[in-house]
Amino acid sequence: MRTSICDRLDMEFPIFAFSHCRDVVAAVTNAGGFGVLGALAFEPERLEVELNWIEDHVKGRTYGVDFAMPAKYVGQGGGADATPEHLKTLIPQAHRDFVQGVLDDAGIPRLPDEFEHRAPKAAGLNVDAEGPGQMEVTLSHPGVRMVVNALGPPPPYVVEQAHAAGRLVGALVGSRQHAERQVNLGVDVVVAQGTEAGGHCGEISTMVLVPQVVDAVPDDVAVLAAGGIGDGRQMAAAMALGAQGVWTGSIWLLTAEADMYPEVTENLLAATSRDAVRSRVMTGKPARQLRTQWTEAWEQPDAPDPLPMPLQGLLYGEAAERFSRVHSKAFGGHPAGQIIGSIDRVRPAKDVVRDMVEGWIAATEHLHALMDAS
Ligand SMILES: Cc1cc2nc3c(=O)[nH]c(=O)nc-3n(C[C@H](O)[C@H](O)[C@H](O)COP(=O)(O)O)c2cc1C
Repeated sequence: MRTSICDRLDMEFPIFAFSHCRDVVAAVTNAGGFGVLGALAFEPERLEVELNWIEDHVKGRTYGVDFAMPAKYVGQGGGADATPEHLKTLIPQAHRDFVQGVLDDAGIPRLPDEFEHRAPKAAGLNVDAEGPGQMEVTLSHPGVRMVVNALGPPPPYVVEQAHAAGRLVGALVGSRQHAERQVNLGVDVVVAQGTEAGGHCGEISTMVLVPQVVDAVPDDVAVLAAGGIGDGRQMAAAMALGAQGVWTGSIWLLTAEADMYPEVTENLLAATSRDAVRSRVMTGKPARQLRTQWTEAWEQPDAPDPLPMPLQGLLYGEAAERFSRVHSKAFGGHPAGQIIGSIDRVRPAKDVVRDMVEGWIAATEHLHALMDAS
């Protein structure tokens, strides 16, 4: 099962696990895969704490850090126009009224005056203000062997600094053209992510996209397959398409280590693949997520158009403070891909890695048997 990316990243199985939860990252890395911490929501100081914790728990093993620095967003360039306070003033009153009406109609209590608001977090927020500090913290941790970016090409300083520090640079892509652009910018690892995937995604399925990307990039660029991969059969299929490994996200949401609201876990367990819908209503860019009363409200004829990133994320964040406080199951959404419909229980992350490896072996033996029979 070893492919050359395993040697380059010093890992056992070519199974990459994206998670915002450090416990999942450490558990996967310790099980022989490669955990990747989604750093989107962590300002540099908090990222330092998270990465120190991971280093303490993986004892010399390797892992990655993923940023989501978008190619386009409101407030691009930083400065006063990019502060959350200013960006919030750009949210039209009609959108706020719509959200208020949706939550009131659903009986979600309003926030008390003394409610302590958290610092706003949203994809595309504080990218210019915090990115350089996030990079500095990331590169000061020796276990981080790959830095990854989503939502477009990483800023040039990310590629330069990572390479200067001897780390690989990865990027998520949803089309062959995106892959070519990323390679021209110096990216070493291309994650070909199909539309089945949880989180931001394009429109092309994994089965179609992966071989297109494999054919489009030079041989020294590793391609990882992402989107809809949850067991060893899907992993074997991805490797047959030419991928050097699999990059997974949704399956780790239903692991014992994942830090989730209980009502969201219940919704994820109950979801079918059709409940993972692609919509702009969480972040402002198309992202696959659980269908909830929030996604459905925005599909009604009287709903306004979702706002661009990060304004929609700020609006969602404000609503989420209100519905998460009362643990509303009807609104308890989360980014999740179609594979969520195949998962019916919560397992330790190391069991997910083991099951995937065993399933890969069984699938490969099955194919060998077909050859022998012919
Ligand atoms: C909850 C969740 C959050 C995600 N957030 C990010 C992110 O911040 N950055 C990123 O590069 N990818 C993100 N992704 C996408 C994953 O990196 C990965 O490509 C995707 O989950 C693979 O498809 P799968 O969900 O079918 O396994 C997210 C995925 C999920 C499920």
